[in-house]
Amino acid sequence: MNLLVVGGGGREHAIIKKLRENPEIDVIYALPGNGGIAQDAQCVPIKATDIPGIVGFAAENQVDYAVVAPDDPLVLGLVDALEDKGIPCFGPRKNAAVIEGSKVFSKNLMKKYGIPTASYEVFDDPEEALRYVADAPLPTVIKADGLALGKGVIIAGSHEEAEEAVRSIMEEKKFGASGDQIVVEEFLTGPEVSVLAFTDGHTVKPMVSSMDHKRALDGDKGLNTGGMGTIAPNPFYTKEVADRCMEEIFLPTIRAMNAEGRPFKGCLYFGLMITENGPKVIEYNCRFGDPETQVVLPLLESDLFTIMKAVTDEKLEETEVCFSDKNAACVVMASEGYPVSYEKGFEITIPEDVLPSVYVAGAALSDGKLVTSGGRVLGVTAVSDTLKDALDKAYVSVCRIHFSNAFWRRDIGARALKITEEA
Ligand code: AMP
Ligand code: GLY
Repeated sequence: MNLLVVGGGGREHAIIKKLRENPEIDVIYALPGNGGIAQDAQCVPIKATDIPGIVGFAAENQVDYAVVAPDDPLVLGLVDALEDKGIPCFGPRKNAAVIEGSKVFSKNLMKKYGIPTASYEVFDDPEEALRYVADAPLPTVIKADGLALGKGVIIAGSHEEAEEAVRSIMEEKKFGASGDQIVVEEFLTGPEVSVLAFTDGHTVKPMVSSMDHKRALDGDKGLNTGGMGTIAPNPFYTKEVADRCMEEIFLPTIRAMNAEGRPFKGCLYFGLMITENGPKVIEYNCRFGDPETQVVLPLLESDLFTIMKAVTDEKLEETEVCFSDKNAACVVMASEGYPVSYEKGFEITIPEDVLPSVYVAGAALSDGKLVTSGGRVLGVTAVSDTLKDALDKAYVSVCRIHFSNAFWRRDIGARALKITEEA
């Protein structure tokens, strides 16, 4: 069986390592993959957004199944294009990927179907938006409608900052057409939880919960990043919260998408905030999270490929999705200066025994050597009986991996550990 995995980050590396556990799979092509993924798959230099290029490659290389991992090809309709050529896929079609592709769509969906989320207003006229934010309650949250490389959310602490955000998104078009419309929403507080869920449009089977650490520096300071580390499970996601999420958020979302004629099949990511008034949706993603996947999949005991095929065939209900009750921690090693500017091209050395738990995000092969090529370079995951031990083990591994200008947060999981120890 020949598989194709679209994407080239740490998330894709984690998906590929897990898929390789299935003996039916002969070849995995990664498009484009990266220098680290090349250890586990055949990397082909076709960009994840090159829809005709990917479809052509799949047809020519007898690909039996495709996993589309990143947001942009999903939103662009890669799954539709592959299915048109008879290639079954894991991932939502374009008309369902809009749940991530348009914040205006997702907010209106939640309002229409009574799914708890922050209250909001939508604007397509910058003048009106400016008038509104001039005396909106502070802090106020401003979001570009479309995809913006995870940078389209601005939390403004003053009215001047809010006006500046509106101008840069709507007038200067900092995120291009993604900023034609904006959502201005209520600022919520509370711990954040990521829940990835398999769904075939009928059944929803949530994966183990996780916690991302989005800020660049210790103590949740510094700029927002693609994620500096994760832990799973998330101790704020109690059984009681999980039950409420299933009844008030997960099932209503699946039903709402069906009612809109947009059945969602794939991995639906719920970005949740546990507020004083219960769990609320901060965002939906139409895909696995990065770096959440790097802690969630190592805890999956069932076979990933079997689950993915069951999602495609709408047979998820009768398919086992079982997670270990251990803890996982992932620490991301980045290049000094990320997320602003950083140097590339430094050689990376990874001890042989650590390699299986390393998920490479930004590295290339140069003369057979692995060298840094991105802001987030790699993540190291450890699994253990306790969160503390998983964190200790992940940090020991981090200290044994070397490249110039490496930096990482020293406090991944610290907040979760405090909660666990207080309980
Ligand atoms: P997103 O890019 O949608 O994941 O948003 C980035 C981050 O902004 C989230 O992880 C939250 O920490 C924060 N955020 C987004 N919306 C809100 C909100 N309504 N209230 C408070 N924080 C928010
Ligand atoms: N970790 C957040 C995301 O994947 O968007």
